[in-house]
Amino acid sequence: MNILITGGTGFIGKNLARILTDRAIRYRVFHSRECDLRNEEQTFAFFRTLDKFDRIIHMAAIQGGGAPEFQKGMAASLVHDNGQIHTNTMEAWRRYQPQAKLIFVGTSCAYPASMSLLYEPDFHQGPVDESVFYYANTKRMADVGLRAYSLQYNLKYVHVIYATPFGPDDYFGDPIRTHVMAALIIKFIKAKEQHEPQVEIWGDGTQIRELLYVDDQIDAMLLAAEHFENEIVNISNGKGYPIREVAEIIRDAVGYRGNLFFNKDRYTGVKHKVLDNKRFIAKTNWKPKYTLKQGIEKTVKWYLLYRNNKIHS
Ligand SMILES: NC(=O)c1ccc[n+]([C@@H]2O[C@H](COP(=O)([O-])OP(=O)(O)OC[C@H]3O[C@@H](n4cnc5c(N)ncnc54)[C@H](OP(=O)(O)O)[C@@H]3O)[C@@H](O)[C@H]2O)c1
Repeated sequence: MNILITGGTGFIGKNLARILTDRAIRYRVFHSRECDLRNEEQTFAFFRTLDKFDRIIHMAAIQGGGAPEFQKGMAASLVHDNGQIHTNTMEAWRRYQPQAKLIFVGTSCAYPASMSLLYEPDFHQGPVDESVFYYANTKRMADVGLRAYSLQYNLKYVHVIYATPFGPDDYFGDPIRTHVMAALIIKFIKAKEQHEPQVEIWGDGTQIRELLYVDDQIDAMLLAAEHFENEIVNISNGKGYPIREVAEIIRDAVGYRGNLFFNKDRYTGVKHKVLDNKRFIAKTNWKPKYTLKQGIEKTVKWYLLYRNNKIHS
């Protein structure tokens, strides 16, 4: 097995590379400096020179959390850059790597916003949430592309839908780009270190999110890559957690003793979002290795070492 990874230098990519190394599976990652997938000429020239791969795991994308400052502030870039990245990658796949099965990394926020339990046949059956309109629709359009390339050129793919992965090497920088787990961990650590009496949590704490430790998310993806073909598959634990519970686990992992303040006036996105994982489990019998608490404890530990320059991302 030899795998080409796009987006291999990001959060999930770095963790994927570590796991493939541990499993002695060959892979190739590249930076956008080596090949900018927005540029068609560069992309074709790069793919042309590569060895033949068995799998392409395509996860290069411009992405960030649901904060309006990011989703609105980057609206046109999300559409333009992601559109180019996916279009060029698919055409380069057809031209230079048609023997490879392409694993496309999708997201649960591309499901219709009106649905709370997300089934694969419903993926295109209604509009996405307004808060992620531009980003989520590029993932939908990529699904259209995958189907088209499979239909016209007989190429093989799997579109895997992630829950919300978290773990080491997640993005802990600018708060407008962070996802919920990193955002909360940063807040609790700051509150503890600066002796703040309370931590503000966006929403009333009842909103349900499906969070999965990154090693489990990647393990599930590698399994799905072998068991599914030319379809969408939800790869998840099928279990959602209220944000209140997530915040309490983080508070304990950080050792913060102040209060939680639930600010109902702040953005929270959709109320309930959990992937139905029956098709995935029926074929693979997959189980996660880490509980939410274990995943959070490992992430907090990693972040403190990383922030204090004890380890490098
Ligand atoms: N993080 C989540 O919560 C989450 C949830 C569901 C799905 N996903 C999906 O999972 C995938 C990976 O997410 P992530 O969190 O690991 O993202 P990330 O940390 O932001 O990394 C993005 C990756 O894409 C690459 N990239 C961006 N623009 C590129 C370009 N023009 N040409 C070549 N490479 C480019 C980046 O390379 P450079 O470093 O060289 O720019 C980087 O390796 C994405 O497709 C995302 O939509 C993520």
